Amino acid sequence: MKKQSKPWRPFTANCCSVEDKTIFSNFSRCRPSRSEFSKDVAPLPSFRRLSFSDLSRSSSTRINEDLAQSFGSDLHDFQLSELRAITQNFSSNFLLGEGGFGTVHKGYIDENLRQGLKAQAVAVKLLDIEGLQGHREWLAEVIFLGQLRHPHLVKLIGYCCEDEERLLVYEFMPRGSLENHLFKRISISLPWGTRVKIAIGAAKGLAFLHGAEQPVIYRDFKTSNILLDSDFTAKLSDFGLAKMGPEGSNTHVTTRVMGTYGYAAPEYISTGHLTTRSDVYSFGVVLLELLTGRRSLEKARPKSEQNLVDWAKPYLTSSRRLRCIMDPRLAGQYSVKGAKEMALLALQCVSLNPKDRPKMPGVIETLENLQHYKDMAITCGQWPASSPKSTRNGFSTKVRMESKGGYHRKSSPITPSKKA
Ligand SMILES: Nc1ncnc2c1ncn2[C@@H]1O[C@H](COP(=O)(O)OP(=O)(O)O)[C@@H](O)[C@H]1O
Ligand SMILES: [Mg+2]
Repeated sequence: MKKQSKPWRPFTANCCSVEDKTIFSNFSRCRPSRSEFSKDVAPLPSFRRLSFSDLSRSSSTRINEDLAQSFGSDLHDFQLSELRAITQNFSSNFLLGEGGFGTVHKGYIDENLRQGLKAQAVAVKLLDIEGLQGHREWLAEVIFLGQLRHPHLVKLIGYCCEDEERLLVYEFMPRGSLENHLFKRISISLPWGTRVKIAIGAAKGLAFLHGAEQPVIYRDFKTSNILLDSDFTAKLSDFGLAKMGPEGSNTHVTTRVMGTYGYAAPEYISTGHLTTRSDVYSFGVVLLELLTGRRSLEKARPKSEQNLVDWAKPYLTSSRRLRCIMDPRLAGQYSVKGAKEMALLALQCVSLNPKDRPKMPGVIETLENLQHYKDMAITCGQWPASSPKSTRNGFSTKVRMESKGGYHRKSSPITPSKKA
């Protein structure tokens, strides 16, 4: 695995436990209003080491001082007025997307804005912070993406923390998210080779995080967080839920369950035990989405088809059955051998027992081998999504639903208790 020269060195070893035990649990039960949030911020102790927990409770001035001291010229601390200017006051005409925690707008930086900052297009995320939780997501992104640099992670250019406003400035990714390409009707279908390339790129990003000296668990691996460069190089973005992995002899970190239904690993949902293998499960779900062109959860489908993993599993072990669930938008233009191997890999990734899931370097190796297959399915046309199983259950699986049903905002915890 190729790492950038800058070593990954977490600012603090204990940031994660503090965040979950205090800030999240307190504020999920009783989320303060914005004004209460301002009253509650306490000054940092005189101790100057940058820490997640300290920053979670600091005033914006103090946070800016700490971030500037820690990141130096690696990250730019923008003023809100500058970001307003480059996005035409966050105009809806410049809207690139919207996730669980805010809107993302396109902006243009010209060479006169900041010394040492080249003219370029950027994406500006305006976080709807609503109390400490949004602030924490913003901070997680600054701390993780500010320190991690890799060709398969989106580059964070800077941030803005002014009063109660929290913004992030990233490199602009011209082809947007994988979600838009796979599921939006207006987009042209992604060819098979491009799907494999995207899977490899995203796997490399995840492998980099897991292979760090102290592993990072991404926790929100899904198509809307995989962004695409002009040549379809995949980069992971949105580190709002990222966590430091277990240390020493610990096998997992225990956290409040956060993430996205349909992608989160079952053992994490039921126990709150988070490991890098939870990310591998989500990776398997995305592989299934690439194969089938179906979303991980689609509430508008018949019950037995709503959960992609449950529905797809019986089809993954034979080429004949697999053919029935391949994305109709591929129109048969895919490598049969490649699809079969990708399906088997996906099946391993979504194993119920986390120990049966492969590690990311192994995943990359398998996917890279798929690139060499030149066999293409001989027949073209729409593939009916039917099988012996679906017939037995009496469901008509031939209709491809257009609905986006079942999609959950990323910031929602999986436990139903939060965010009423
Ligand atoms: N750097 C970027 N370049 C282009 N589009 C982006 C960029 N960052 C985000 N987007 C778009 O905005 C959407 C939401 O961004 P994301 O960071 O996932 O927000 P959230 O934290 O609210 O989920 C993405 O799915 C994508 O469509
Ligand atoms: Mg997102």
